[in-house]
Amino acid sequence: MVNNDDQFKKVISHAKEYGYVFPSSEIYDGLSAVYDYAQNGVELKKNIRDYWWKAMVQMHDNIVGIDAAIFMHPTTWKASGHVDAFNDPLIDNKDSKKRYRADVLVEDYCAKIEAKIDKEVEKAAKRFGDAFNKQEFITTNQRVVDYQAKIESILSRLGKSLENEDLADVKALIEELEIADPLTGSRNWTEVKQFNLMFGTKIGASAEHSTDLYLRPETAQGIFVNFLNVQKTGRMKIPFGIAQTGKAFRNEIVARQFIFRMREFEQMEMQFFIKPGTQQEWYDYWKETRLKWHQSLGLGDENYRFHNHEKLAHYADAACDIEFKFPFGFKELEGIHSRTDFDLSQHEKYSGKKLQYFDPEENKSYVPYVLETSIGLDRMFLAVFSNSLVEEELDNNTTRTVLKLPAVLAPFKAAVLPLVKKDGLPEIAKDIVNQLKWDFNVDYDEKDAVGRRYRRQDANGTPFCITVDHETLEDQTVTIRHRDTMEQKRVKIDELRDLIKQEVDMKHWLMKM
Ligand code: GAP
Repeated sequence: MVNNDDQFKKVISHAKEYGYVFPSSEIYDGLSAVYDYAQNGVELKKNIRDYWWKAMVQMHDNIVGIDAAIFMHPTTWKASGHVDAFNDPLIDNKDSKKRYRADVLVEDYCAKIEAKIDKEVEKAAKRFGDAFNKQEFITTNQRVVDYQAKIESILSRLGKSLENEDLADVKALIEELEIADPLTGSRNWTEVKQFNLMFGTKIGASAEHSTDLYLRPETAQGIFVNFLNVQKTGRMKIPFGIAQTGKAFRNEIVARQFIFRMREFEQMEMQFFIKPGTQQEWYDYWKETRLKWHQSLGLGDENYRFHNHEKLAHYADAACDIEFKFPFGFKELEGIHSRTDFDLSQHEKYSGKKLQYFDPEENKSYVPYVLETSIGLDRMFLAVFSNSLVEEELDNNTTRTVLKLPAVLAPFKAAVLPLVKKDGLPEIAKDIVNQLKWDFNVDYDEKDAVGRRYRRQDANGTPFCITVDHETLEDQTVTIRHRDTMEQKRVKIDELRDLIKQEVDMKHWLMKM
């Protein structure tokens, strides 16, 4: 049995070996926490983005999209609170000279207690067999109840200390829990300090005439500053949403875990403008809708859970994360935030422009409240990719590595393989590629024995392999092999398009929502 660390290492090396993700500027030994998407990765990423865009924009007649610039007027970030409050608490270890996020050290400590709970559950499930009731067990088993209470009390204290900017108490908590440097075991810590995560840059030709700018740390502000332009030109009526996908930048203190926490990453965000007082209703609606979107991809409902924020960001009156079970445990994948009228009111204040909506039903103007859904595209990529990578034992005592990507997201929907490189089979195979490529991204592969080609396509995540053999010459049929079941059947070339479409069409997947 592979442990989680090994599984994660496999994910990273598979992503590189099969052309999904490369370290940035690798010939110069890479750049920490910056990655490039390779030929297959860029397709998977685009498909995830399209799946999100279609669900959010195309399927909602009251949501439209924009694409705002990364550079924004510097006052934007003063107004949004990022200049003053977009900080992470950091702590250094005096012996190892390593820097950590103080809150992450405490959260990792709690994750270890959670792993103990999982172990107890696993043991009990074995002991009780079919009669095991997990819910009852975790609410009645004293050891598990104590573990749970400990986690809750630690996280609640951490949340309060961070909220009150009581960094001395965060350090005290680390010391009381005897948290050690994960790399060296040393407990020789500095004080906890705040560190602003925004990257600064300059615009302008000369030093005297340049202006200080920030690279945007979230795409959301590009939506807020365009709120009135979109509302007026699109004649939008509340409730309505504005969606955007694009790059964001954060100077993360602890950038690790591959593409989970990057310094340059992509967000898919939607700000939903609503009448003040209706935020609870929309908060519930978007929690449910976004969870259904995730579940429609079939990565396993048990791999998602909600986590309510103890420490609310400076702009929110309620917030939660949709967490996903990554190879290193449950972690934030998406945030759902009730942002009140904080952002629009702040931009009104700093710009001196009215950012209000005239509500014809109420016959009055107001600053709308905002419900935000915010998901990291790279994190979603990691969720899909890591969940899909499996090693399967086969009947003949061999194993195969297969990337069981949801077919709708796979880079190639099919690969066409001539059984041999002669007798006119490659020509027919290329003809099939030329027919299918109008509808799908299709690969052509003629190198090596067909069994090896199947394995290669399995590892690449291609849902279908289409093999052209000598029978094809006689009756225009081919075999179509399914990646997950490995079942093969003989079909007419003319039937291929519909057969593939049935399984990869976005409509079929989104209709599961
Ligand atoms: N506009 C709200 C906002 O930016 P957030 O919780 O800071 O909220 C939203 O970020 C999402 O962006 C996260 O749930 C995560 O998926 C993604 N994200 C944040 N920081 C990231 C990073 N350093 N690397 C990759 N993804 C990140």
